[in-house]
Formats: sequence, C-alpha cells, structure tokens
Amino acid sequence: MRLNAYLARAGIASRRGAEELIRAGRVTVNGEVAGLATFVEGKDRVEVDGAEVGPEPLTYVLLHKPAGVVTTARDPHGRPTVVGLVGHERRVVPVGRLDADTTGVLLLTNDGALAHRLMHPRYEVDKVYEVVVEGEPDDDDLTRLAEGVELDDGKTAPALVRRLEPSLLELTLHEGRKHQVKRMLAAVGHPVTRLHRSSYAGLGTDGLGPGEWRELSAEEVAALRAPGAP
Ligand code: URA
Repeated sequence: MRLNAYLARAGIASRRGAEELIRAGRVTVNGEVAGLATFVEGKDRVEVDGAEVGPEPLTYVLLHKPAGVVTTARDPHGRPTVVGLVGHERRVVPVGRLDADTTGVLLLTNDGALAHRLMHPRYEVDKVYEVVVEGEPDDDDLTRLAEGVELDDGKTAPALVRRLEPSLLELTLHEGRKHQVKRMLAAVGHPVTRLHRSSYAGLGTDGLGPGEWRELSAEEVAALRAPGAP
C-alpha cells in the first residue's frame, strides 16, 4: 500500500498529515528516506523520526450516539463529532452515518475491510430504528413502508415494520440510504419527529447512556466477521 495510507493505518497521522511527514523527509523505509510515491509491504521496516512504525491493532467501538453530534471525523461548521466524542487513541472512523439529530447505535472502527462489508447492502446488516412520527400511521401506511416506498432515488427494499404505539413505529431495514427513514416516513405523510437506532447488526445500546461507548468483545467482533453474518 502507499506509504501515506500505511502511516494513517498505523495511527500516526491522517493521510494528509502523513504526506507532510513524508515531504519533510522524516520517514524512512528500510533505511532510505521515502517519497510520496513509495509503496510498502508487511516486510518493510518503516520509521518516523527513527522510531519504528507497526500496524495498529484493530479496534471496534460501539457508541450510543447522542443528538447534536455529527457522524464525520471533522465538521466544517465546527459542530462536535462522534470521533471527537469518543476520543479514542486509535484512528477509528464511523461505519456509515446517522443524522446529527438521530440517536442510538453507531460503530466506529479502524478495520476498513469489515466496515466496507458491513455497509454493503449485499450483506443485509439489520438496522432497527424506533421512529416517532407526526400523526398516527394506519395499516395501509405500514404496508407501504413494509413493501417499499417510491423515493427520488428508487423504491426502497422490503422492510419489517411494527407499530409500538399510535405514533411510534419500529422499522428494520437492510439498506442505508441517506436520510432513508425520514424520507420513507415523509413519503407516507408522517414526518419523523424523533429517530433512534436501537440496534445495528444485532448490537444494541444496553447499559450505555447517550454519549457513552465501549469496545466490542472478541466474541462480538467474531460474530460480525462470521461468513454470512450478521
Ligand atoms: N435514516 C434517516 O433518515 N436518518 C438516519 O440518521 C438514519 C436513517
């Protein structure tokens, strides 16, 4: 992989920060000062300012995202971010997005391969949302949501829909399009007033208050990785 990506992966700096280190001549590969075009493999010895850089251990964080925090590493408007909130020593990034006003389960990791897989619609990761809406959706509305709603980027895939209270629904989706739940509910005439993701890939917020996080256990990571899971 490219040297800047390797350094970012090792948690030394962002890719851009790593480029600056390389340009400044502070990075060597097998004892030679490296350039921006240098590629490295596992057997290469990479050093920054003379200190060896090893691969960063893989890390998996489950955050109970509170409202008012954006799901990016940096926000141009200076709003607080989930990455800043977690403040992990390793360079974890969010797996997918939740809107700033959405609460609930969000995974963050530095395992790019697993993150990519979890976000791919082919793997059909279950995402369960509790949705408070305006008005009281009737049975026809629930059927439309379950069978698929026509949105401007195409019809939504079949979903599981349950009415928990007259204005509170539970939706289980496999897709993860932008603002999908809000757009689906707006399409059936019941705009969302509150959105909470109660579960992602079978992981819930149990024991975590808003803003709290924990590392996944080895068993939980293995379950996410298992073929065909979750
Ligand atoms: N759907 C939305 O509309 N917003 C979210 O944050 C997640 C799913």
